Amino acid sequence: MSPTSTEPPPITLGAADEETRAARHAARVSIEQAVRRPALQACALVFAAIDSLVRALEARDAYTCGHSLRVRRYCLRLAEALGLGPRQRWRISLAAKLHDIGKVAIPRTILNKPGPLTDEERRVVQRHPVIGERLLLPVIGSRAVLAAVRGHHERLDGSGYPDGLAGSDIPLEARILAIGDCFDALTSSRAYRAPLPRTDALGVLRQAAGSQFDPVLVETFARVQKGLPAADLLLANAKASRKDTYR
Ligand SMILES: [Fe+2]
Repeated sequence: MSPTSTEPPPITLGAADEETRAARHAARVSIEQAVRRPALQACALVFAAIDSLVRALEARDAYTCGHSLRVRRYCLRLAEALGLGPRQRWRISLAAKLHDIGKVAIPRTILNKPGPLTDEERRVVQRHPVIGERLLLPVIGSRAVLAAVRGHHERLDGSGYPDGLAGSDIPLEARILAIGDCFDALTSSRAYRAPLPRTDALGVLRQAAGSQFDPVLVETFARVQKGLPAADLLLANAKASRKDTYR
């Protein structure tokens, strides 16, 4: 500094200051860890309980064994193809795992019934998204996850349940779930029908694009399914005249 300058001399940290700062940082890290540890442990317990609940649900019905994990895989591949970020992919992953959790409250005789359901039985089954949302409300803090669980049977044209939402009023996560859920249901054995080949199942999705499913999501989903030549997909579209039979 020049002798005429009025600027104060720069403050430099001595070794003692550095030690103090390091000690403060270490203390802050230990306090944060101490605060977070019980929360993380509680979180781990909640997720372990959720896993058990999903396994218990799928054990009630041999036909849906592994359904939630397969739906999760399909939905995550679609989410990645759509370029969704990690936070949204996490919500989709959790919602996919939990989407049918409300079926724990549906009698097995209805879930495993071979053949068509009566109107009353169908009404009982259709309660599962709302029951699922209520079951998860005390343990899942994400509104988006709860909305996806509640909305996974909504249809683009507004004829779905439980709320009759239409178009973009249906949360994106729920629209993605609807596609993964249907694709797995169609390509798996059910008490009431044999599995469809994957190409035929894609054809069913495409036929319902615009009415039941978001057409952009259906096309993206079809694209990410590997090993499906375009000719097979066209053939599948022609064959896919059957009505939607998944529950
Ligand atoms: Fe469902």
